[in-house]
Formats: sequence, structure tokens, C-alpha cells
Amino acid sequence: MNYKFNSSVASLQPSAIREILKMTSKPGIISFSAGNPSADAFPSSEIADIASDILRSDPIAALQYSITEGYPPLIEYLKEYMKGKNALSEDDSVVVTSGAQQVMALASKALCDSGDTVVCEDPSFIGSLNSFRAHGGRLRGVDMQPDGMNMETLEDILKSDKRVKFIYTIPNFQNPTGITMSYEKRRRIYELACKYDVIILEDNPYGDIRFEGEDIPPIKSLDTEGRVIYAGSFSKVVSPGMRVGFGVANKELMAKMVVCKQVEDVHTNILSQMIIHRYVTEYDFAGHLSRIREIYRHKAGLMMELADKYLCPDITYNKVQGGLFIWATLPDDVDMTDFCLKLVKNSVAVVPGNAFSVEDNAPSQSFRMNYSTESDENITKGMEIIGETFKACRKL
Ligand SMILES: Cc1ncc(COP(=O)(O)O)c(C=O)c1O
Repeated sequence: MNYKFNSSVASLQPSAIREILKMTSKPGIISFSAGNPSADAFPSSEIADIASDILRSDPIAALQYSITEGYPPLIEYLKEYMKGKNALSEDDSVVVTSGAQQVMALASKALCDSGDTVVCEDPSFIGSLNSFRAHGGRLRGVDMQPDGMNMETLEDILKSDKRVKFIYTIPNFQNPTGITMSYEKRRRIYELACKYDVIILEDNPYGDIRFEGEDIPPIKSLDTEGRVIYAGSFSKVVSPGMRVGFGVANKELMAKMVVCKQVEDVHTNILSQMIIHRYVTEYDFAGHLSRIREIYRHKAGLMMELADKYLCPDITYNKVQGGLFIWATLPDDVDMTDFCLKLVKNSVAVVPGNAFSVEDNAPSQSFRMNYSTESDENITKGMEIIGETFKACRKL
């Protein structure tokens, strides 16, 4: 059978990350490729207690169909959470989604006609890029600077392209570069969105795992015109497998996104929502956050120390203050893809930088390393192997 796919999805390929993840299940591989939280960061026994209690005391509420907007007590909690960031206006509403990933799908479904432009940081999170593509979005990339998107490139695009529907940004500990957007740039991106009458989609799954430095207010906190859609998630702070995220946007826009969600999955898993609500309101969630920030501070610190020892100065990398990733860049005389393949052969998996490129097949000299999942011993061994593999590539 010759399947004739929808033209928006015909060119989509399985993400390179997933393909590399398949290899990471090979025994003995040291994986710096996933975006998973540390195995030590799950509040498993608390979740087991809550789940069992809910299923015994309130089974029907947890097993029955529920409303699309989300579990009302969790929505109330999220409203307070957003108010705490000064990022909820009277005209906003909150919807619980199946991960933050679904906010990208709902925003593009609600806003994009086929061929509309979505402006993205380049490189950016492949899951979101593919969601925009799958909903007919045409991507335009903006280069990254140490303090976030290049605002001049952004303005050039906004000036010349009349089909821009929204700008997608990950302002905190961006995936894959680890870059955090400065407050000045957050103000500027909002100004530009107002000037050119476009929406901003602010994706913030990593903001709560800052282990160094001061929090920077979200772009949503600057929003006086209902122009910012905010996406948040419990994936990195409680559990990705439970698939609970949330979106915050102006009521009119959110009502359309809710209809889109209704036809997609009816509602987010209600048992997961109830568990998360009980966990964040009745247990020591603040203590849990401090504990996981310590885990990541330690692991990131170790990886950066080893990068200084084994990779620098030839391979450069961005210092990070939170999130889960370090972005490293090879000198021009080493072929990045070849280097990543040799690394896998030497039992270390990283993600090649072009997996995150806005343009297919764009050249990249960078690769992404995750520090959250491997033991200290394996981080040490893996970084040493990266250094040795680099030296071997140089000798060839
Ligand atoms: C930037 C970014 N946005 C969204 C997601 C998806 O998160 P969720 O598990 O909440 O769908 C990820 C996951 O890695 C991510 O890195």
C-alpha cells in the first residue's frame, strides 16, 4: 500500500533523540542523551501512598470521565502558583494539559493555518518544533546569544514576514543550549510582539529547577494584552510519566484551545491530576524542590568540572545555573556527526546538535549532554571518554 500522508506530517522524521535513546538501552552505554529527571528525584513512596488512598477513598472520581479544563482543585493551585509569579491576570484562564507538550499542540492547532509562520529559537526543543510542523506551521529560526534570542534577527523576521502567528521561546535553561533569557530581552520580546501584533508562546518546564542565581520574572508577568501563552509542567519536578502540564492564556484564546483539547484527548489523566494536587498541597513540595535542586546542582557542577578538565579549551560549553543540559561545541576541524557516532561506539551517547535545528540538515558543531540521569561514577567515566574520543578524532 502506498500511503499518502498529510503534507504537514509527510516530512516528519522520528526524532534523532528517540533513535539515539534506542541505542542507550544497549548494556554498558553511558547515556548523556535523555532529558529525563534523575531516578533519585521521584517522590515515589509519597505517590504510592496518595494513589492508594485516592483509589480507596474516592475511586469513582479518579476512574470516571472528567472535565476538559482539568481537576478544579489543581486549577486553583495553579492559579495561586501563577499569581505568585505575578503572571496571572483576571482575563486569563488555566487548563491542565497532558504535559507541556500538549500546550504547543493546542496553541498551533488553535492559531495556525497551514503555511503560517512560527518563529523559534534556533536550536530549540525538537518535540515543540515537530508539533508546530505537524500543525502546518512554517518555522523561522532566530540565532541564540548568551542572553537569549538575537532580538535584531527577530525584529527583521517580524518586519518582513506578515504570516507570523507566534514566537516560541524557552526562556529558562533552554533546551538544548541551557541559555536563560535576560530580563531586558524578555521586555524587548514582549515589546516586539506588541509592535508587530503577534503572540508569544512561553515554554517553562525548567524554571523551577534553578540551582544557582536569581529567578527572572516570566514574560507572562509583563503581559497586559493577553498576548502570552504560558506552558508549565510537572514533568521535571514530579514525574514525566504522569503527563501533567498546564497552559495559561487569555480566556478567549484558551476557550478555543480547550475545544481543541476536547477533540484530542477529552481530558488529562484524572488520577494523575489528583495525585499531583495532593502531593503539591499536602506534602513538603518545597522541600522536595530544594532536594532535587541540590541533586542537579551537584551533577551539573561535576559535569562542568570534568568538562573543564577533559574538554576545554578545544571543546567549549555553556555554564548553566539550572535545567538539565549542557551544550558543548566542537572546533571546526572535527566533524560533529562523526564524533557523536564514534562516541556511541565508545559507549557514550550524546545528542548531535543538528537534531534541534530549525532547518533540516543545517550544519552544527554542537552536541547536548544531560547530567541528570547517570551516576557520578559514570559522569566521570563518560566525560573522560568524550575527551579521549575528541583527541582520537583530531589525530585522524
Ligand atoms: C522545552 C521543553 N518543552 C516541553 C517539554 C515537554 O514536557 P512535558 O513532559 O511536560 O510534555 C520538554 C521535555 O523535555 C522540553 O524540554
